[in-house]
Amino acid sequence: MDGRRVIVTGGASGIGLAVAAQFLASGAHVGIVSRTQRSIESALAGPLQADSQPVHARAADVSDEEDLASAISGLACALGGLDTLVTSAGIEGEMGASLTDVTSEGFREVLDVNVLGVFHAVKCAVPLLAQSPSASVTMVGSDSGFVAVPGMLAYNASKGALVQLTRALSYELFDEHCIRVNSVCPSIVDTPMARRGLGVESFQDAAYPVNSPDDVARTVLFLSAPESRSLNGLNLLMDFGYTARSSFPA
Ligand SMILES: NC(=O)c1ccc[n+]([C@@H]2O[C@H](COP(=O)([O-])OP(=O)(O)OC[C@H]3O[C@@H](n4cnc5c(N)ncnc54)[C@H](OP(=O)(O)O)[C@@H]3O)[C@@H](O)[C@H]2O)c1
Repeated sequence: MDGRRVIVTGGASGIGLAVAAQFLASGAHVGIVSRTQRSIESALAGPLQADSQPVHARAADVSDEEDLASAISGLACALGGLDTLVTSAGIEGEMGASLTDVTSEGFREVLDVNVLGVFHAVKCAVPLLAQSPSASVTMVGSDSGFVAVPGMLAYNASKGALVQLTRALSYELFDEHCIRVNSVCPSIVDTPMARRGLGVESFQDAAYPVNSPDDVARTVLFLSAPESRSLNGLNLLMDFGYTARSSFPA
């Protein structure tokens, strides 16, 4: 990844932060976008602390196309171009709500961030990525694009949309600009979002397998690297094999 120019949305927390830190450690030039300045400051003072080279950061709301476009073009300018976009910004929305309790506003907010936020990021990054000799987009989707988690109606719908967005963009952008588009789709990951959503302090005693942010980050780096040049349009499940099982118990 030496010298690779990378922008990570949601790069100040959880999976995005682990992705940014692994890119940085592997010699990439990194820019992050996060919603709040507070998260950015804590990431820059912690895992993304300037060692040999600084991490560039902008606060922007991915659901606001103009705000995000200005952040991405500013970051690409500071990085001297763009080779890889990773979209990790996302929200869980209402948890544990049944259909009658889900509001249109709550549903729309999840789609605005989780789906339109990715669309906006890719749209404004494409003219920059098109100038790279080995461009890639890697989205952080979810196994919720394949299997439904009860009480997360809007989230399930948003991650299902990303599965098809990955396929549709991979087709269009590879043919037009040689840009590859893939996604990683992890089951539960130990991040602030998961702890907050489930109201737990730790997953140490969880009765189910849990990904670490670093597990997901390693897969993101693999998909984003030029060496993965034949991988395109892939929604890669990281669910410990759950969806490969038959419902028949034998
Ligand atoms: N954790 C899991 O179990 C899990 C499993 C599968 C997939 N995922 C997916 O992984 C991605 C990252 O989740 P995470 O668990 O790492 O969550 P997280 O720790 O809460 O981090 C989310 C990041 O996204 C940013 N963000 C949220 N809304 C934004 C907006 N409107 N504009 C710009 N940035 C925004 C946050 O910024 P601020 O901190 O500044 O608000 C934060 O940096 C999400 O797409 C999520 O759906 C998570």
